[in-house]
Amino acid sequence: MSLNGLVLRSMRGGENRRNYLPEKDRYLSSVPDPIFTFNIIGLGVNGLEHLRNTFHEGRAVVKGVYDNEPLSIAAARDEFRKFVPDRELIAYDTLESCCTDPEVDALIISTPPLLLEKPMATTVKDAWEIVTIAENYPALFQIGLQYRYKAMYAESIYEAKERKTIGEIKTISITEHRVPFFDKVKQWNKFAKYSGDTLVEKCCHYFDLFNLFAESKPAKVYASGSMAVNFKDFTYDGDVRANFNLCMFSPLFYEAFTLCGDTGWLSAYHKNDYLKGSPTTELQILSSDLKPARTMIPEYPGAIETFGHDGATFFEHMNFVDNLLCRQTNTATVLEGFWSVVVGAAAQKSIVTGEVVIIKDFLSDEKVEIGV
Ligand SMILES: NC(=O)c1ccc[n+]([C@@H]2O[C@H](COP(=O)([O-])OP(=O)(O)OC[C@H]3O[C@@H](n4cnc5c(N)ncnc54)[C@H](O)[C@@H]3O)[C@@H](O)[C@H]2O)c1
Repeated sequence: MSLNGLVLRSMRGGENRRNYLPEKDRYLSSVPDPIFTFNIIGLGVNGLEHLRNTFHEGRAVVKGVYDNEPLSIAAARDEFRKFVPDRELIAYDTLESCCTDPEVDALIISTPPLLLEKPMATTVKDAWEIVTIAENYPALFQIGLQYRYKAMYAESIYEAKERKTIGEIKTISITEHRVPFFDKVKQWNKFAKYSGDTLVEKCCHYFDLFNLFAESKPAKVYASGSMAVNFKDFTYDGDVRANFNLCMFSPLFYEAFTLCGDTGWLSAYHKNDYLKGSPTTELQILSSDLKPARTMIPEYPGAIETFGHDGATFFEHMNFVDNLLCRQTNTATVLEGFWSVVVGAAAQKSIVTGEVVIIKDFLSDEKVEIGV
């Protein structure tokens, strides 16, 4: 899909579509008819972001939703009306009816084909059970680890993995400093028994990036942290070292990412516009072997960035629809989702015990039979 196509999709229904034009005169502003229908389960902050991005992406529509909180359904109806003013969003009475509607091609959160939000489960045991179920699953099963589509990471993947600008990756470092957790329905994100703990629920995004850049499974995890400060350190095969630093009492959102390769260095950051006029994002690549060094600003078109998570959710949807069309994509697989949960759960255990967690032993204690 061309960039023009993307930007035009992002304006779908907006005034920029020049509503006076008959369909036959549309070339640039034509939008193809949707080919897939989705239902969404759970319409909180994130479910609404999926609803919006389904319409923005344009090749699918949302038919209905299931949520056990009436206020969430009301919010979904309001959002839906912005895209489909002449039809009412269906709110199914039961989870089963939402999952089994024969007109629906895919469910976001549950069932075939499936886009399951991260974390794929709140415990390693449950995540492993999903992996074993998914092994023989005939349909698409994508995990909502969409940070790989944030502009700064997408560009870093291209530089480090495809162009191999910095040689062999030796260390990975990610920092996230941000404001405290937002309010959630029933405040589930404040309780480990609902979220699986912050390191699993929130940080599995970053652990997925560790695994992706290291092209390896975790071998040892060490973390120290508390309600005041979190810090983690990982070793992969004694080869790639990765560390993650999280602070959730910062006044702004700030994310920084550094890769050290054996022939170069890549570093990127993204922050919200806390101080007027200061840059919000930047990526630098320095090479030691006389290749050109560069500084760039990885960004998506502004309209797409406003759809949520700096545009990453939009590209997650594009790739989800491409998956449905059997095209090749780089979306997170069930196993990748699993390993991101393993790192988070092991880090949480390390905080509690103060010891290094050996992944082989950790998984064997969890009765997970997988080679590491
Ligand atoms: N990929 C990302 O970047 C990203 C970002 C935010 C949240 N998430 C994930 O999305 C999920 C939801 O997070 P949120 O921020 O939208 O939370 P939220 O509290 O804003 O919304 C959750 C919604 O789910 C509904 N719900 C809860 N239990 C339900 C059930 N059994 N059946 C039907 N509906 C139910 C609640 O009523 C609520 O409307 C979590 O797994 C979270 O980790 C992912």
